[in-house]
Amino acid sequence: MVQNKNVILGVSGGIAAYKACALASKLTQAGANVKVIMTESAREFVSPLTFQALSRNPVYTDTFDEKDPEKIAHIDVADWADIAVIAPATANIIGKLAGGIADDMLSTVLLATRASVYIAPAMNVHMYAHPAVIRNMGQLEEWGYHFIEPGAGYLACGYVGKGRLEEPEEIIKVIEEHQHKSGRQPLKGKKVLVSAGPTREVIDPVRFFSNRSTGKMGFAIAEAAAEAGAEVTVVAGPSNVTTENGLIRRVDVISAEEMYEQMHHYFPASDIVIKAAAVADYRPKQQHEEKMKKKEGDLQIELERTKDILQSLGQIKDKQFLVGFAAETTNPIEYGMQKLKKKNLDAIVINMVSAAFEGDTNIATYINKHSQKEEIELASKAEVAKEIIALIERDMKGDRR
Ligand code: CTP
Repeated sequence: MVQNKNVILGVSGGIAAYKACALASKLTQAGANVKVIMTESAREFVSPLTFQALSRNPVYTDTFDEKDPEKIAHIDVADWADIAVIAPATANIIGKLAGGIADDMLSTVLLATRASVYIAPAMNVHMYAHPAVIRNMGQLEEWGYHFIEPGAGYLACGYVGKGRLEEPEEIIKVIEEHQHKSGRQPLKGKKVLVSAGPTREVIDPVRFFSNRSTGKMGFAIAEAAAEAGAEVTVVAGPSNVTTENGLIRRVDVISAEEMYEQMHHYFPASDIVIKAAAVADYRPKQQHEEKMKKKEGDLQIELERTKDILQSLGQIKDKQFLVGFAAETTNPIEYGMQKLKKKNLDAIVINMVSAAFEGDTNIATYINKHSQKEEIELASKAEVAKEIIALIERDMKGDRR
């Protein structure tokens, strides 16, 4: 959740400033863009150069150190941030923020920013219990600031008690969990219909034709859509994949014909339809009621075409953003583009059979109806699903749906 986020790390003057170095390093490693702001007292404990090296960004120490005449530094960095974390937060910086005082770079930026602010206090046990500090923290909490409580233990001042800066890993965990909970829900209010898994075409009571699809990709897409706030229905062919997500409705089907019926049932009310299922193109012309007995010589089973569900949906779609999948062994882009056009899709996810089936990872190319092409790198099916949902969201916005 902190990946690609712009994070201000505010370091105020306490001995725990040394732990903020590890925090800067771990945030950077987690993929965040980190800019450190140090108070004057923080610089008594750690050198700005340490933070510069760890964050790979210049460190801000002085409100009036304006490096770029085009910008006002404290407003620029305040606007840039998605998240601000003050660690360690002394009683002084907490008091200044609660009192609306802006007399150095950190306190000024904190008043100017609209980012989510997380405060990790660290101070002497008696200071932490002082009514002024308690009042200031209460006031900030009321205004929507988030506190990461200090741990109890041996304090540098010699006391044992509450006031020790929370460990950097724990600070990141709390931020990530909170960001996740309050995360954007770009598909809130949208109904998403997904098809997943193989279909099974019955020959007789013990035999069927099917394929190697597991349903993992389809269910990963359903999970990603639910995480983005959508109300999700999965029409699933026989698959062992389960979902615990209460926002996902599962409709189990066996054959291509049953999948056709259920997809058409849910289609009219849907906003986004993603056909990840590997549907059988043929089924036995005759389904035997009794188990077929073997005979001398070869056996021929006559197959007939099933309905192309996706194509039939493409013919009747109005508001729906319709996404198909293409599983290929050769010329993936060419065949995928043909399917995109022929089936009247808004986008297609193209993958190679060798990479897509059975495993827990995938690698794909997403192409929209404007022939805009995006490569989705090798990743877990959950990650690939998230990217697909993000691209659909992007394209729906572009089409103003
Ligand atoms: N599809 C479908 N109904 C079918 C066959 C395929 O809805 N009877 C959908 C799949 O769910 C997928 C897309 O069509 O989203 C492409 O499936 P794929 O098997 O790659 O291609 P086909 O259209 O079957 O074409 P071909 O067999 O020639 O590759």
